[in-house]
Amino acid sequence: MHHFRYAGSNLHCESVDLAEVARLYGTPTYVYSAATMADNYNRLAQSLAGVDLRICFAAKANSTLAVLRHFANLGAAFDLVSGGEIRRVLAAGADVRGSVFAGIGKTEAELELALQSGIYSFHVESEPELARINHVAGRLGVKAPVAIRVNPDVDAHTHAKITTGKSYNKFGVPLKAAPAAYEAAAKMKNIQVRGVQMHIGAQLTAAAPLIEAVETVGALAAELKTQYGIQYFSIGGGIGIVYRDALASGAASWWEAQPADQRPLTPEAYGAALLPLLQPLGLKILLEPGRYLVGNAGVLLTRVEHLKRGAAKNFLVVDAAMNDLIRPAMYDAYHEIVPLHRDTTRRALVADVVGPICESGDCFAHDRQLQEVGEGEFMALMSGGAYGRVMASRYNTRGLPAEVLVQGSAFELVTARETFEQMIAGEKIPAFLK
Ligand code: LLP
Repeated sequence: MHHFRYAGSNLHCESVDLAEVARLYGTPTYVYSAATMADNYNRLAQSLAGVDLRICFAAKANSTLAVLRHFANLGAAFDLVSGGEIRRVLAAGADVRGSVFAGIGKTEAELELALQSGIYSFHVESEPELARINHVAGRLGVKAPVAIRVNPDVDAHTHAKITTGKSYNKFGVPLKAAPAAYEAAAKMKNIQVRGVQMHIGAQLTAAAPLIEAVETVGALAAELKTQYGIQYFSIGGGIGIVYRDALASGAASWWEAQPADQRPLTPEAYGAALLPLLQPLGLKILLEPGRYLVGNAGVLLTRVEHLKRGAAKNFLVVDAAMNDLIRPAMYDAYHEIVPLHRDTTRRALVADVVGPICESGDCFAHDRQLQEVGEGEFMALMSGGAYGRVMASRYNTRGLPAEVLVQGSAFELVTARETFEQMIAGEKIPAFLK
């Protein structure tokens, strides 16, 4: 599932000793495995090999230039949500001609940039947005290709903050309103109806909600193909990953060790469930996976500052914090935490793993069973490749963490750690305070 393994006592990413990376570039630092990303990409492509497939990597999960370039080299297009993300793809030396532009509040400037860059399609979330796209395309003298995001009102059974396909969520056009929205789009002078889109939520671990949504929106897609000659059906992203890693439990594979009914979706199961529904449509199928492609391909390296033995609890204070990886604080997300140097002769330690930020929420794990570690030792927060560095902030005036990409025995710093000077570069003291 990923390329992080203990070779001897030391945790490696592919053939690279992670302690060497930590010593060379400092901590906190994100490290990614190019091989894991490629394997994930190829495995997913293979699972839906029976259809005309395009994988649009959801850049919001990880938009580091080197990562975008790696996916472009693998043949991926992108699911983009801002002008900034479009510019990142271009800056990575790729193009957006196969990519889609989603989001409920695209500005006129963003629409213009997308049209000028030759975007494959806009994923439209409302009728006012459609009117705006028509207007901007008219100004540029082009036709804008669109797909309407249909909200199938399906419960994805995922965390409330990352579910999107229910009628009370802000996303998409209700299924019932979709035919009228398409009729309106088809009448607009500068709009070309190109597809239909859905996305029900993130970290899906069961196929049932997806099947239900694909069946529902698939029926609409078939009608739209007849009526408007649409080319594609995008079924969104959302394939979940395993956050409880085998590295910590010592099991050969955590996934295989789970009871069958609790195993998360594998690409093979995903493909097997969806292929019979998608094949008969005869449409190009777009996927928008983010987490599945990069989640397990990245870790966040951190250094132990102190072990603080409190009255009620032990606190392992590390140099990474909620500003570097917000998922535990924001979603109560579980991330495995393992030492870079494993020593089975050491005692066990039960501790809260916390960062140095002045908030109780700055906690990566509660009462976690760990190997005893001391000041200066390194640890890895696993499964940090998706929604990790992209959600990092400068809270407490902590610069954004560095990033390293590994491929085989090669590794390079692909994002330098942000300096204090860079952090304050846009700020100034106003004249009236001088
Ligand atoms: N397509 C659309 C329209 C989306 O809104 C998203 C994610 C994706 C694709 C990619 O979903 P994925 O395959 O990565 O699940 N920050 C949260 C996740 C937010 C997801 C937002 N939309 C987290 O850390 O869990």
